[in-house]
Amino acid sequence: MHLTKEEEKMLNSDNETLRKCMEILVAVGETNDAERLVEITSAHISGVSYDNIGEAGLEWLESLEGKVKVPATVNPAGMDLKKWKEMGISEDFYEKQMRVLRVFEKLGVELALTCTPYYLSRPKYGEHIAWAESSAIVYANSIIGARTNRECGPCALAAAIVGKTPYYGLHVKENRAPTITVKIKGDLAAAGYIGGEELKNEIPYFVFDREVPEYELKLLGAALAASGNTAMFHAEGITPEWKDFEKPSEKIEIVGELRTECEPDLITIGCPHTSKEELELILKLLKGRKVRKEFWIFTSRKISGESSDLVEKLESLGVKVFNDTCMVVSPATQRFECIMVNSGKAFNYLPLMRKVEVTFGDLKTCVEKAVKG
Ligand code: F3S
Repeated sequence: MHLTKEEEKMLNSDNETLRKCMEILVAVGETNDAERLVEITSAHISGVSYDNIGEAGLEWLESLEGKVKVPATVNPAGMDLKKWKEMGISEDFYEKQMRVLRVFEKLGVELALTCTPYYLSRPKYGEHIAWAESSAIVYANSIIGARTNRECGPCALAAAIVGKTPYYGLHVKENRAPTITVKIKGDLAAAGYIGGEELKNEIPYFVFDREVPEYELKLLGAALAASGNTAMFHAEGITPEWKDFEKPSEKIEIVGELRTECEPDLITIGCPHTSKEELELILKLLKGRKVRKEFWIFTSRKISGESSDLVEKLESLGVKVFNDTCMVVSPATQRFECIMVNSGKAFNYLPLMRKVEVTFGDLKTCVEKAVKG
């Protein structure tokens, strides 16, 4: 891989953190035959919950010295920073999680603690970014038209400190062409969960049989990335690059339907974190009715702050709105037995990470279950 003089200097720097970060980028670049590095406009770092990274991850983070060169945000932590006691988080976990967050703060990273950084600051079409959160990666590539590969957590952090990432894969326009046409019927989040495996290593070109709101596209991408490895899709008539390439001749159809049986003791929305529009929609679906089951919504503190009237109204109906964390990365949900979700990603990860049973329903079904018990 070709390095500029300045990049060579960073690779041989006395600053150990900078040197290590360059080493990571060069290793990733050479493995993927990148010809050079490219400047990025933002980075989004995953691997923030203490529950995910553990003692080894914390030690590595605490060994870092320096500052990020580009605006950088982080994924959800393992708890709501204010309501952690209400979530049932232990004092010990709280302390360890705060140590993780202090490192990011020291490095100049914004503690956004969300997997939807695009609701906070939206990259522009065509911008090169280094994001490490599979659902945000699909969103950025597909719905915004920004360019990122599926970065690992340390890779995104290294890119933030260097201000660059290896130029290969989805940073290159011709690698963004769709490879298979997929007709989707039914629920999009369920279709993403079902289709993830089959669409591994593909860039699907989706055709829908109805109008699809933004949040459903977000759920589709998140599910595809979780049960498979999708980093980008095109959606006919919707996404910004759908007309830029030839429509693939190979065609399949996926029907989004998930049948599950368990009776939920928790219903949860917000994987990925909800937008203001989703909060509005949930409130509308509740029609002033109080919930009779535990009903948790996860969103970012920024969206909560901007929607404080909505949050207040939801809470007055018995809904709990948590920030900074989510149902998968927080240990708080593992005390439940069966969790109902409208997210294909949470449906995939909750049994693995929290050892709970899951059941699936679209947003309306989840709200009705919460209200009717
Ligand atoms: Fe976000 Fe947690 Fe889902 S990080 S995408 S809400 S698993």
